[in-house]
Amino acid sequence: MSKPVVTIIGSLNCDLVTFTNKVPQGGETYTANSFETHQGGKGLNEAIAVSRLSPTNKIHTRMIGKIGKDDFGKNLKNCLIESGVDTTYIEEIENISSGVAVIIVESNGENRILITPGTNGELKPTDEEYSKYFKDIDIGFVVLQNEYPDTAKTIDWLKLNKPNINIAYNPSPFKKELITNEIWSKIDLLIVNEGEALDVAKHLLPKTKINEDVKGFENLTIEIQKLINQSNIKTVIITMGSKGSLFHDGNTTTKPRFIESKKVENVIDTTGAGDTFFGGVVSNLALGKKIEDAVEFATIASSLAIQKKGAAEGIPTYEEVLKNL
Ligand code: RIB
Repeated sequence: MSKPVVTIIGSLNCDLVTFTNKVPQGGETYTANSFETHQGGKGLNEAIAVSRLSPTNKIHTRMIGKIGKDDFGKNLKNCLIESGVDTTYIEEIENISSGVAVIIVESNGENRILITPGTNGELKPTDEEYSKYFKDIDIGFVVLQNEYPDTAKTIDWLKLNKPNINIAYNPSPFKKELITNEIWSKIDLLIVNEGEALDVAKHLLPKTKINEDVKGFENLTIEIQKLINQSNIKTVIITMGSKGSLFHDGNTTTKPRFIESKKVENVIDTTGAGDTFFGGVVSNLALGKKIEDAVEFATIASSLAIQKKGAAEGIPTYEEVLKNL
């Protein structure tokens, strides 16, 4: 039997990370603790998460993205290759620098991120290119976020030409113009955090009253699930940080389920934790696991990721997660 195919379309960034006790205000100068360079970008992190969080060689993980002809680009591509990701469709572009994220991480692990898209801003495949990328691929998962300009077109093309492929989407960073009924009705697996879920409610469910507790988010999970495509995997997950996550597949005889987060005493760096979670869910679902098992696995994976520095480098392996399950 052939392997499941998971395709990630999106960003690759060189993360320039400064670790500090305090973030300076405008006009202020402050001495930080340390500076490190890491591989990142939501797309790259998700690709590495899908690949590392599955048993070796069980999933064909591919990434579609653009890098510059610079050292940042070289390191990003090598990092994908070392993690077992197929880089056939990572294209090098002349005269534009690779994507960069300037990241400040405070001592509680919380981050602030400023992105310069660079070559990620050039990722606008034509219909012919999409046909080439998905030749002979009719099932599996495509993983998307908003760190490249063409997410809406990708969703349209896939739903029209490859309707049985599950479109897995994390609408981050937030782009108001992408919150429309039309786009959301084509999504098969939606992963949002509490803030994003509330933004969706504001735009697409203006009449729904939301209490910002677990019960309120449970109702919101039910309502948001009704907005997505009702074929394929039809699942919504709302992540609630250190509390846990809720998920629902629209089955009217069951309620949304809640899986608690794992308590972590020493949070080092939360950068990429959401991408790790996303990749962990998709890798498990692509291997045919049940959604509750996928969420449980991804919860452990992200709890391990926040105990290490670096977005991509912090992503654990499948075996490391199994030891902690
Ligand atoms: O989600 C974390 C990622 O966001 C970082 O790696 C950074 O590159 C930004 O894209």
